[in-house]
Amino acid sequence: MTIRQPIITVIGHVDHGKTTILDSIRSTAVASKEAGGITQKISFTSFTSDYLKEKCKKLLEDFKIEVEIPGFLFIDTPGHAAFTNLRKRGGSLADLAILVIDINEGVMPQTAESIEILKANKTPFIVALNKIDAISGWKKLSSNLKEDIEKQSDYSKKAFEAKLYKLIGSLSTYGFDSDLFYRISDFTKQISLIPCSGKTGEGINELLVMLAGLSQKFLKNRLEVKKEAQGTILELRKEKGVLYLEAILYDGVLKSNDTIVIGGFDIPFATKIRALFEAMPLAKGFRIAKHVAAAAGVRMQVPESEKALPGMPFVSMENIQKATEEVQKEISESIKLDKTGIIIKADSLGSLEALILLLRKAGYKIARVGIGDINKIDVISASASLKNNPLDAAVIGFNVAVSDDAKTEEKIKLFSNVVIYKLIEDFEKWRSEKALELEREKISELTFPCKIKTLKYVFRTSKPAIIGVRVEAGIMKSGITLMNANGEIIDRIKNIQSKNKSVGESKKGDEVAISLPNITIGRQLKEDETLYSSLSENEFKSLKQNKKLLSPSEIAILQEIARIKRKEKATWGL
Ligand code: GTP
Ligand code: MG
Repeated sequence: MTIRQPIITVIGHVDHGKTTILDSIRSTAVASKEAGGITQKISFTSFTSDYLKEKCKKLLEDFKIEVEIPGFLFIDTPGHAAFTNLRKRGGSLADLAILVIDINEGVMPQTAESIEILKANKTPFIVALNKIDAISGWKKLSSNLKEDIEKQSDYSKKAFEAKLYKLIGSLSTYGFDSDLFYRISDFTKQISLIPCSGKTGEGINELLVMLAGLSQKFLKNRLEVKKEAQGTILELRKEKGVLYLEAILYDGVLKSNDTIVIGGFDIPFATKIRALFEAMPLAKGFRIAKHVAAAAGVRMQVPESEKALPGMPFVSMENIQKATEEVQKEISESIKLDKTGIIIKADSLGSLEALILLLRKAGYKIARVGIGDINKIDVISASASLKNNPLDAAVIGFNVAVSDDAKTEEKIKLFSNVVIYKLIEDFEKWRSEKALELEREKISELTFPCKIKTLKYVFRTSKPAIIGVRVEAGIMKSGITLMNANGEIIDRIKNIQSKNKSVGESKKGDEVAISLPNITIGRQLKEDETLYSSLSENEFKSLKQNKKLLSPSEIAILQEIARIKRKEKATWGL
């Protein structure tokens, strides 16, 4: 049985130290060379067992671990775009994950998002509690982490423990039982916490040894190499005018003259490799290769490479027909759509799946998906929802841009962000505001309840009668019919004037003049009389159903109106 190296993804909130930890593992300094200190692209680090044996000799002996794996393949991910790209057939590309948490900051939004995705994919993980050197008074005292923790001053130890227990508490709210790695008796039940510092190197060897121990103990079956090469496209990268596919090979052996089948949304395509490159150990670039064995980062030059989409699976098999079917089956299984719903876009199949997962969890339906920027076609598709469910008239893009031609349709709400939780939060906010707006629109077509009192100001007695009134409660709109306290219909309000200007409506407290075309003041209507809007039974019922949109005083007049109406007809509005 050949065992490949486990694929280990390093994930966590932005700036919590993912790249620095990998730097410390490689003993290089990539993080400080990065633009703005933010990892922009996914990168591989292959770390061979020779390095492991050399770097962690003493600890391996202490823990009685015999190294059997050929090393690790680490994947660093940009904190701001999550690690969602890393998918493979049947789940996560990562065999194991290191969740990096700044011990001083604890669980942050992207930590929480990472935990949700780890949980959904059932990816085993350990936690690197980074930046222990920043705990006040902390000193690096020995080369052994356990001793180092014990030898700290009481003050630093207390500060460390307070942060540690807070974190254990946070993790338990996600259903994870965790503890310091050297206190764990059953690694299948508890998550190991490894305090460390990417800066001073404390705990880094412990981290490596834990990864080796856990991989060998629990992942051996998963690490067994099969014959067919299988992998995931991570990105399309253009260098010196040539488009390369960068991919991760997680099973089998890929040869430089293989034909591979790459998945697509509609149909997969078969293509013959023109040139094959393998990622060199310790993230030192790529070298040309005749064959590459899993697990490895690879770069391929293939005809029609522009047809490939990030996150799509690829396989090399002798039987192309079978390969095509398998690749396609995988995609159609991972993406199931609803008949109606929102439209979502993402930068890769993996991020799309993560977005689908989290949106579905939040209770939303998804009608259409795609990889790439939000474009005109997405907006046109979304406008199908305008009529039936305006709350779905939205396009959500994760880690993609919005093309200019998509911005023209104002009725469709577009969301784009590099953080999934922000997208969902913004979408939820828009949806609830929109829902309220739609409900108000619905009842604004109804006659609103209102109660008014005629004043001593009579401007005209008839044709039309114009009289001053004060709105006691509710909203008075022109066009509504008024009745008196006995339920007798007075007239329809033709016009409302305030300070010699027509106004569509007036609210509680306003004093305005109304014109009533069919009555004469002094006959049907007097000064100092209370009037109400006369509602139809249906209007009354609809308003009652939408009670939550009415104020308490409006509800009170609604009851008064019902009482008046029921003098005539006992079952009115029931
Ligand atoms: P993104 O790639 O942007 O998600 O960030 P990251 O998680 O890779 O963080 P990175 O390694 O770039 O570190 C962020 C900042 O924290 C840098 O300024 C590092 O120098 C600092 N840092 C990382 N690890 C440690 C540590 O152990 N101790 C201290 N004191 N600072 C650290
Ligand atoms: Mg980074």
